[in-house]
Amino acid sequence: MAEFSLPKNSVIRKNGTVHKAADGATNVKSFKVYRYDPDSGENPRYDTFEIDLDDCGPMVLDALIKMKGEQDSSLTFRRSCREGICGSCSMNINGKNGLACTTAIEDCKGDVRITPLPHMDVIKDLVPDFTHFYAQYSSIKPWLQTVTPPPSGKERLQSPEDREKLDGLYECILCACCSTACPSYWWNSDKFLGPAILLQAYRWLADSRDEYTGERLDELEDPFRLYRCHTIMNCANVCPKGLNPAKAIAETKKMLVERAL
Ligand code: SF4
Ligand code: SF4
Ligand code: FES
Repeated sequence: MAEFSLPKNSVIRKNGTVHKAADGATNVKSFKVYRYDPDSGENPRYDTFEIDLDDCGPMVLDALIKMKGEQDSSLTFRRSCREGICGSCSMNINGKNGLACTTAIEDCKGDVRITPLPHMDVIKDLVPDFTHFYAQYSSIKPWLQTVTPPPSGKERLQSPEDREKLDGLYECILCACCSTACPSYWWNSDKFLGPAILLQAYRWLADSRDEYTGERLDELEDPFRLYRCHTIMNCANVCPKGLNPAKAIAETKKMLVERAL
């Protein structure tokens, strides 16, 4: 499981604002939400938001939207689809990375502590900076690469069996819950690609239509890019889509061993 861990360079300032629930609310739950505004020059703090659960949707994202709409419009977080598809609302909820839109409030014990994804630079409040993560994604060339032209007038076909090999890979929504729960990524994210990007890299290695397998393996065969994975398995434990990046990493290592034989 991902341990509770603050974003980089965090010193929590005490005495955050407490936003009380409406008078008369009887089913109140407290949320301690990480607040940071670099323009203010102040250290981060936790604000407390009391939410009337009788007047709120069931998910953590519903509570965040209610906080922003009714208690503090400056609260900043990402969200889009509200159904676990876009990957925007990834954050750390009570010490575990996950999606706010698919995490039920009733499954959160006690006060709910919400922080940005661990060990990322923070742009504001719950919004981490994904610039490096996306640059790493771009580095693996996440598109079909071929040398032979497609059959004339047809798309490149794939047998049902070959298509099945992409199950457990194509569903990744690039939320980064796994990479930011990975201790190896925390300490070596400048060089280690991390579980999300390595799962994506394997997605193309496993694609029967791709013709750049050798080049892709050459790029990954590096003491840091791939081999910093020590099979700690945090990645598989937190993935909100039930994927197993560690398995994809192991398959990639196997491909490297087999081509060396
Ligand atoms: S299995 Fe590898 S990639 Fe996954 S959390 Fe552990 S070290 Fe990171
Ligand atoms: S493997 Fe899972 S946790 Fe990692 S980025 Fe993809 S969907 Fe998110
Ligand atoms: S809002 Fe899209 S995954 Fe949560």
